[in-house]
Amino acid sequence: MAKKTILDIDLKSKKVIMRVDFNVPMKDGEISDENRIVAALDSIRYILNQGGKLILLSHLGRVENEDDKKGSSLAPVAKRLAEHLNQTVTFVPFTRGKEVEEAVSNLNEGQVLMLENTRFEDVVGKKESKNNEELGKYWASLADVFVNDAFGTAHRAHASNVGIASHIETSVAGFLLEREIKFIGDTIANPERPLVAVLGGAKVSDKINVIKKLLEVADYVIITGAMAYTFYLAEGYDVGLSKVEKDKVDLALELLDLAKGKIVLGTDVVTAKDFDPESEKNIRLKSEIPNDEMGMDVGPETLKTYFFYIEKAKTVIWNGPLGVFEFPRFAEGTKGFAKKLVELKDSVTTIIGGGDSAAAVIQFGYENDFAHISTGGGASLEYLEGKLLPGIACVDDK
Ligand code: 3PG
Repeated sequence: MAKKTILDIDLKSKKVIMRVDFNVPMKDGEISDENRIVAALDSIRYILNQGGKLILLSHLGRVENEDDKKGSSLAPVAKRLAEHLNQTVTFVPFTRGKEVEEAVSNLNEGQVLMLENTRFEDVVGKKESKNNEELGKYWASLADVFVNDAFGTAHRAHASNVGIASHIETSVAGFLLEREIKFIGDTIANPERPLVAVLGGAKVSDKINVIKKLLEVADYVIITGAMAYTFYLAEGYDVGLSKVEKDKVDLALELLDLAKGKIVLGTDVVTAKDFDPESEKNIRLKSEIPNDEMGMDVGPETLKTYFFYIEKAKTVIWNGPLGVFEFPRFAEGTKGFAKKLVELKDSVTTIIGGGDSAAAVIQFGYENDFAHISTGGGASLEYLEGKLLPGIACVDDK
């Protein structure tokens, strides 16, 4: 069922409490990747332009004790947001209390404030993460309507999403949440075919349920990245020092059997002797990986095979890099694959399923070249598994 969005309600003069996911990586107090802030700007601008009085909530990191609070304040995020919006973002360094209530009552139409990290409430009794009833009710009491735009947190049932929604009359989706539902949820439910799923990344064990779900809905499933070596082992190849999960070989065999020819594996790999950015690279057939080398990237023939499938596709869902893209020498597979998808963008709708693959395409400068780059890590994986996420379920249906 479609969800109500900010387009469906009147925002003029309304106090709007919006949950965003500004859980951005920080280095020495500086934001090192602001993608999640940029992704929320459309909703924020729309609400302010409509005359809403906006209260923003987000978590940042995991906060379990007083010590964890250091370096976890949202103050730098509020500052960055103000630069993007070119207007004041009042930062209130509390999650509740007199200062919060005063700041809210001083808000005028078109103004925005941000409260402190919602997980500061976790220090005593994990109130945010355990969806403490009183906390959800308190945040709900600050506003007239709730907007959820925090897709990255939609797999969590916390006080700042599910809690608020259960104590307020109106809960709607922001534009970002709506986009994630459209591109991930609707594609899984009703894909434009052929649908090719591309699953990479380190561990088979992290993605078992995603692989199973995609085997149900996709026409082909390309298994790549470090995960592929466990499948090569299952096929009977010796993969040298490549990262494998030996205890998942039976599972890989079971998945190959279940796939009935839908799983696409590679034929060659780029190897190195050490897990090191400077290590010399070799191209090997997967049947000829020496004992003292490990797979670091896909080989050129494998890449050609992947191209064969994506050239025929109407939709591609890609989650997980093809190799160690953090090392430029071993980024060629991931980069070449991303470039090919960009070339095909008029005929193929590509959805980048978040996490490392999102980081990779953004690092390569392709942030505007795909139909959708998910802002979710864990959330996008659970959504790809076909789960109903609590942060989506709590939003009103149309
Ligand atoms: C994420 O980065 O995946 C989300 O912001 C959720 O964060 P969490 O795993 O700490 O709940």
